[in-house]
Amino acid sequence: MSQTLILQPEAEPICYAAMLLSQGRLVGMPTETVYGLAADARSGAAVAAIYEAKERPAFNPLIIHAPDADAAAAIGVFTDEARALADAFWPGPLTLVVELRDGAGIASLATAGLSTVALRVPAHPVARELLRVFGGPLAAPSANPSGRISPTTARHVLDGLGERVAAVLDAGPCAVGVESTIIGLAGGAPTLLRPGGLPAEEIEAVLGRKLAAAPAHHKTPSAPGQLLSHYAPRARLRMNAEAPLPGEYMIGFGETPGDDTLSASGDLTEAAARLFDALHRADRDGRDIAVAPVPETRLGRAINDRLRRAAAPRG
Ligand code: TXA
Ligand code: MG
Repeated sequence: MSQTLILQPEAEPICYAAMLLSQGRLVGMPTETVYGLAADARSGAAVAAIYEAKERPAFNPLIIHAPDADAAAAIGVFTDEARALADAFWPGPLTLVVELRDGAGIASLATAGLSTVALRVPAHPVARELLRVFGGPLAAPSANPSGRISPTTARHVLDGLGERVAAVLDAGPCAVGVESTIIGLAGGAPTLLRPGGLPAEEIEAVLGRKLAAAPAHHKTPSAPGQLLSHYAPRARLRMNAEAPLPGEYMIGFGETPGDDTLSASGDLTEAAARLFDALHRADRDGRDIAVAPVPETRLGRAINDRLRRAAAPRG
């Protein structure tokens, strides 16, 4: 059995990671949101390895990462609104779902055979350098086993996927800490498919109109992978807790204390960056988890979305 390489985020190791990718191997890629499990998006076999490593129950479509907006526009068809959002927020924690271009060369498994494609230009310098050196699009879902908490450190990637990933570029903890905001722009009004690291309010300010809400629970083919219990710790999780019940591990926020806190000062940006790490720690503790109330504004929307999924009953 080969060991997973932990690579420093420097020029030579990044070249090595790009070579692994061109051989169809999987690489743990730091991004500003969460660590991604990257593979060559043009190779059906490489993309299949992602599903295999994550043990995804279904072939949900993946986000395709591009080095810049021009490269993204070679893959998807950008409407005026898509272009406005790309200009305003790329590189950054925003994913745009647009029509897939004919002959774009993306493996159909990466888009789950849909006529649309989810595109993102990440801001993390290591992700950008890896994309530049690799010279092609990278499919990269979060680098965790399906149904588990997303990774915000290289350690989380190794703990979850172990030797199923050839190498991990270790660039330290992710600054944003929750996945990208996903906006659907392929027909109809712009739709908030997934709240995430870019507040919806900022997107609405650029569009000059409100985003439509995603259809309930998102189990339709237009956005699979949004199953309610997607971000599950092993233990039961209770939201909006003012205090722990006996035997609960408490994650505080602001004034509400706990065994841990998302942000003692009530800062939503800090809370997003700490969320998955706090859930990983709680998971290791083993007790049931209680989480303090988090306001439903700005990044609080993404935080509460992930907490609702973690709290959802599952079979
Ligand atoms: O921050 C992020 O977005 C991270 C980092 C690694 O970039 N990536 C990530 O990818 O969260 P993933 O595969 O875990 O999430 C993909 C989401 C799924 O909910 C999927 O259903 C949705 O994007 N998606 C992908 N293609 C789609 C499409 N054509 N239409 C609608 N939703 C799509
Ligand atoms: Mg994920």
